[in-house]
Amino acid sequence: MQHKLNISKRLLAIARMVDKSSSIIDVGCDHALLDIYLSQNKQIKNAIASDIKEGAINQAKKNVLISNVNNVDVRLGDGLNVLNEADLVDTIVISGMGSQKIISILKENNTWLKKINTIIIQSNKDNYNIRKAITSMGYYIKDESLVEERQIIYVIIKFEKGKLKYSNKQLRYGPVLLKRKDDLFIKMIKAQVSKNDVIIKKLPFSKLFLKVSLKIKNFNLKKEIR
Ligand SMILES: C[S@@+](CC[C@H](N)C(=O)[O-])C[C@H]1O[C@@H](n2cnc3c(N)ncnc32)[C@H](O)[C@@H]1O
Repeated sequence: MQHKLNISKRLLAIARMVDKSSSIIDVGCDHALLDIYLSQNKQIKNAIASDIKEGAINQAKKNVLISNVNNVDVRLGDGLNVLNEADLVDTIVISGMGSQKIISILKENNTWLKKINTIIIQSNKDNYNIRKAITSMGYYIKDESLVEERQIIYVIIKFEKGKLKYSNKQLRYGPVLLKRKDDLFIKMIKAQVSKNDVIIKKLPFSKLFLKVSLKIKNFNLKKEIR
């Protein structure tokens, strides 16, 4: 019997971005929950679930075993170094890491990108740099979504191979999110404005330049949700 897995709202939102029948590598899989979920729901052909931490990999292997799935291959290693020539992968998923780490994982082994049609990212911060870096690697933004869990709003971005030009504003807020402007987008922008307001209030007069630049930032943010 198969033990069906429940995953968090955030992981579920990432899973929704994965195309049916794709072959994925989930870099930094931790306990491989996303991969097991995708396999159990017959959404993928196969998954390579990799992590740099031995403890995570050992747990991932146990989870794969008890979940009774046969198309999730768990591997220990750094970033895309775990891949071999024979691997059939068309999708990279990286979630729950910082933007710099995500970008360096993709840049370090960019020859693998020849095989990769789709990149799905959930970065813990700085989606501006994520969008900028990955679109400059020859991908465009196919889809974006927001999900709130434990009072944190997460941004998930799906890139596909191809070229599109983006304005600075689109790279900052997300071209798809900007078009949609759904309730969570408005909530996220309002939270950013409030956070900046607190900083503005606390800053001493000697930091006038920073104060003014934050005020301008807030002015622009408010314009987006008017
Ligand atoms: C916060 S967890 C996120 C786990 C999962 N992807 C998620 O979204 O819930 C980040 C994971 O990335 C792994 N990691 C960090 N750097 C890595 C690298 N260079 N290569 C592979 N895994 C890495 C960590 O060991 C950790 O398990």
